[in-house]
Amino acid sequence: MKNGKFITMAIETSCDETSVAFLEEGRTILSNVISSQIEIHQAYGGVVPEIASRHHLTNMGHVINRAIEEAGISLKEVDLFGVTYGPGLIGALLIGVATAKALAFSVGKPLVGVHHIQGHISSNYIENKELEPPFLAMVVSGGHTHIIDVKGYNEFVVLGQTRDDAAGEAFDKVARVLGLGYPGGPLIDRAARQGNPDAIKFKRVYLDKDSLDFSFSGTKTEVLNYINNQKQKGQQIIIEDVAAGFQDAVTDVITDKAIKAALKTGRKSIALAGGVAANSLLRMKMEKACGDNGIAFFSPSNILCTDNAAMIGCAAYYKYKEGFEDNIYLEAYATLSLEI
Ligand code: KG4
Ligand code: ZN
Repeated sequence: MKNGKFITMAIETSCDETSVAFLEEGRTILSNVISSQIEIHQAYGGVVPEIASRHHLTNMGHVINRAIEEAGISLKEVDLFGVTYGPGLIGALLIGVATAKALAFSVGKPLVGVHHIQGHISSNYIENKELEPPFLAMVVSGGHTHIIDVKGYNEFVVLGQTRDDAAGEAFDKVARVLGLGYPGGPLIDRAARQGNPDAIKFKRVYLDKDSLDFSFSGTKTEVLNYINNQKQKGQQIIIEDVAAGFQDAVTDVITDKAIKAALKTGRKSIALAGGVAANSLLRMKMEKACGDNGIAFFSPSNILCTDNAAMIGCAAYYKYKEGFEDNIYLEAYATLSLEI
């Protein structure tokens, strides 16, 4: 407690960001330090799990110290420790989980393990103080594409998900073949702004008529085939047009399915979350489609879209408030179900 306010400290290490945050009353950020390893993994064109774990280990101490300093908090004032315990890279998760267990144990305060997707969903609570369940969450990240019925702070029903590549994964792979670099999402976003989305039309894959599942690998392969064909024919590839055409196809499907899910369930709000939620076209399309259908639209600012510990702290707070608590035996899981 500090000044009568409940303090949560959170740790996120599921992929290539080492992040530590402090929150007041679960929804207000005191500090949210994110140390990205992007530059290290860029050389390999993607995240190398073993390298990620090692860097989490060497970064952790500095990131904790900076987060403490920025928040002006002492560990003794922390009421709850939250940590991502899955899904993610197992070696990377273990660093966060071991650190959180050690800290919670050393000051004798409760510990809560958080599902990474629950964290992404919770990123919306931080800036939108009026948002509360029930609502629909559209989670689009490097590892997940999920439409989730958020029935309560800790009650989720997955209505649809990707059958192959996640949305962010498709962005990253297409960016790689276009020679744009890693991570691909923001680079495609930027290139697409200079391109014509109608120059090359890529497939919108909807699967069965009523399906809320996704499939992006067909669209990705279509882009790769287009690039190879152009190269074979010795014809020019306008990177900006390919990026714009691909982004237009993927964001159309995500938007249409999110709206379809809202109409099907009768939910009146949609919250976008995950790294791909930072995509400027997706945000525009979702905002417009929600407006046209009388649905309230929520999305976090860019810094809370990609992996960060503040969203994990917010989720931990609501788990703890509803009676969830872990202990020193908490483990990390590479795969983990959201529906508890
Ligand atoms: O949520 P996140 O940080 O990590 C996972 O949990 O996977 O998401 C990372 C993903 C990457 O695939 C990255 O390319 C994508 O989010 N991303 C974007 C944008 N910014 C990040 N995708 C499209 N447009 C963006 N502006
Ligand atoms: Zn994530």
